[in-house]
This record gives sequence, C-alpha cells and structure tokens, in this order.
Amino acid sequence: MPLVTTKKMFEDAYKGGYAVGAFNVNNMEIIQGIVAAASKLNAPLILQVSAGARKYANHTYLTKLVEAAVEETGLPIALHLDHGADFEICKSCIDGGFTSVMIDGSHFPYEENIELTRKVVEYAHAHGVVVEGELGQLAGIEDDVNVSAEEASYTQPEQVHDFVTRTGVDSLAIAIGTSHGAYKFKPGQKPQLRFDILDEVGRLLPNFPIVLHGASSVVPEFVEQINKYGGEMPDAIGIPEEMLREAATKAVCKINIDSDLRLAMTAAVRKHFVENPSHFDPRQYLAPARDAIEGMVAHKIETVLGCAGKA
Ligand code: G3H
Ligand code: 13P
Ligand code: ZN
Repeated sequence: MPLVTTKKMFEDAYKGGYAVGAFNVNNMEIIQGIVAAASKLNAPLILQVSAGARKYANHTYLTKLVEAAVEETGLPIALHLDHGADFEICKSCIDGGFTSVMIDGSHFPYEENIELTRKVVEYAHAHGVVVEGELGQLAGIEDDVNVSAEEASYTQPEQVHDFVTRTGVDSLAIAIGTSHGAYKFKPGQKPQLRFDILDEVGRLLPNFPIVLHGASSVVPEFVEQINKYGGEMPDAIGIPEEMLREAATKAVCKINIDSDLRLAMTAAVRKHFVENPSHFDPRQYLAPARDAIEGMVAHKIETVLGCAGKA
C-alpha cells in the first residue's frame, strides 16, 4: 500500500469517536519506535515533519524512511508537513511526495490567512494532497517562533464555518488551551481546555475533522526519570490524558504529539548513560530510546487516542 491521505482516516475517526496520532519525526529511531507500536496495535498513523526536521534530517531521507515503514508494515500511514509557514514549503512537500500539508496562517490577519490557505488548497487538491489549516493561536514554541500565553488566542467558533468554506481545507487546527512544548501551564495552575469552544465548533461544522496541536501529556514518569538522572525540568506539565481522550470522542480526529517523544527518548538516554557510563556505541543508547518511544506510543494509541485495531 502506498502512503495514504488522511481523508478516510478522519471519516472513520469522526464516526468511531477516536483520534489518529500525529507524531513528529526527526530520525530513524523515532520513526521505528512509533511505527512498531502502531503496527503491533494495527493503528492508523500520521507521521509529520516540521521545517526544522527537514532542515535537520533532509526531506529525502525522512521521506524514504517513512516509505520504508509503509513497505515493512503495510499500515495506512499519511506523511504530513507540520506547521508549513508559506506556500513554497507546502509546494515543495507536495511535489516531494507528502500526502498532507499544514499551512499555518494563524498568526496572519484573518483575510490573509484565508487567502494563503486557499492558495495552498488549490495546489494541493490538484495534486491529490489534503490540507490542514489553523485558526486561533496556541502559546509555546514552534521552530524559532515563541508565542507567549498573553499573545495566544482561542479560536472564535463563529469564524470557523466561514474559514472552512472559503478555503476548502480538509481539517482545521483550533486553539482551545493546548500549547506547544513541555511547559503548558504555570506551576500551580489547573490544566483546563475550552471544551465549550470545541462543542460549538462541532455544532457549527458537523462531521468536520478538528486537529489538536500542543497535545502532549508531558508524561510524568519521563519527567521524573529525566530529573532523577541529572536533568532539570521541575515544572514540566502537559495536558491530562483524560482531557485528550474526551476531545477524541468529540470532533478532534488528529492529536499532535512531539514533546512526549522527546521526553521519552531523553529519559531513556539519560538513564542509560548514568547506568552505563562507559558505553559509547550509539546503538547501545539509541535502542532503549527507541523502545521507550514504542512503549509511550502504544500507551497513547490504546488509552488516549482509542485507535487500536482501526487500521
Ligand atoms: O509544533 C512544533 C513541533 O513540536 C515541531 O517542533 O519545529 O522544533 O521541529 P520543531
Ligand atoms: P507538543 O509540543 O505538545 O508535543 O505538540 C506538538 C505539535 O503540536 C506539533 O505540531
Ligand atoms: Zn503544532
């Protein structure tokens, strides 16, 4: 089976009350860990590549690794551009074999966001590729752009129908209180998501797939392990798993996870070096890192996303 788009995945997810995991990939071990979990649990999968990942690992290397994952497993896998900043990067990914792109015009004025998104949709659809847009701004850090909590703004549900119909996007990322990175809430602050906004969006746009960015749980076991083995992340905090599960039963069909991959990998590598200070063969520390990713992704698929057995 070749790479797929997210079209059928999202139709099934919406009907079935679950979400598909969209995991950021930067190297072979990350891809292998994620794919091993999805393959064992027969789960559909979105592997996503940021501009930073393309710069770090190279477009062709990443594309070929993902194609290898499809060949090895036969799983339905979509290859997605995460946070495309302009038309050119979207075009480059569409021309270079991606099946899905995100155009993130969320920081532009509304009409500019519509114009840019529609231009990407026209090109993508003419090439059989689907498009994710974004309305509303999340707090946190993407590539080198840091959006403070004060600058972040929730999605306005009344804009969503207009945006979707005028752009023709296939899915939409909205801001309901999630944020990028490992520090999603201030120390002592109670994690909260605006489910009222999500419900209103679902009412105004029935059967339309919604995307949650910044949706890592910042798994406490990994943070504890990092801190135990010499790291310093005392205030790291993410979105509680039960909130993500609830979102997945509603209109949310795609849940983006990157920070949890980073934490799983870093926790395993830190532990490995403390316990094995003389090791210097990269396979010795990258293998446990890959295993940690596999375990974390399996847990997400089974208990948070609910997409086990849905491939
Ligand atoms: O939302 C951003 C993702 O976590 C990707 O991060 O731009 O550092 O690759 P990156
Ligand atoms: P996290 O930082 O919460 O993993 O979010 C990742 C993301 O939204 C990628 O686009
Ligand atoms: Zn994101």
